[in-house]
Amino acid sequence: MTNVDQWPHLYDAGTPDSPVLLLLHGTGGTEHDLLQLAQRLAPQAGYLAPRGPVQEQGMNRWFRRFGEGKFDVDDVVRRAGQLADFIEWARGNYGLGERKVIAVGFSNGANIALATVLLHPQALTDVVAFSGMYPLGDRSFDGDLSGTAVALFNGEADAMAPLTSVTQLKSVLDNAGSDVHQAVREGGHGVHPTEVDAAATWIGSRTAPAAR
Ligand code: MLT
Repeated sequence: MTNVDQWPHLYDAGTPDSPVLLLLHGTGGTEHDLLQLAQRLAPQAGYLAPRGPVQEQGMNRWFRRFGEGKFDVDDVVRRAGQLADFIEWARGNYGLGERKVIAVGFSNGANIALATVLLHPQALTDVVAFSGMYPLGDRSFDGDLSGTAVALFNGEADAMAPLTSVTQLKSVLDNAGSDVHQAVREGGHGVHPTEVDAAATWIGSRTAPAAR
């Protein structure tokens, strides 16, 4: 039983017809963490910023892990289902209608966003993942992700999101028919200013009216 309607979260409607950014913080973060990032990515957009429901030594997270990079994949699957439920609940509660919901996640938040688009593409179609990786451990994936779009931003020397896992993720997404944008920069875990600019452009391209 998930009571996602009880999740602490922030919501701002933004301008009509703009997308709604689903802001997913990293380990130890809160629902406030990505508000400034959202402002830089899409200042007109609405946002929906929940707090990770899992606790690890007092830190908020989105799913359990056994150690760094060793995910409890059963919990990843369960929590991705809860996040999908939360998105559906928010769509109804805030009257989002057909507005596009674009997840923007950092680190652990990127990983739950990726798990959610993989497992629940009917609830979440668009993801911007900063320093994310393949979230399903040693489980393979053979779903259909046509109609989804994912932007991956990673550092080539990120010990927390190793490039081998990022490469696996990219190939899984490609094979499933997702529209993938990938950019790998120098450096490690984090959000680089050039990635913010590129993500803003990507979000704009996903929400621009179709050319006639
Ligand atoms: C995770 O647990 O999702 C990744 O290791 C990133 C993090 O440390 O949060």
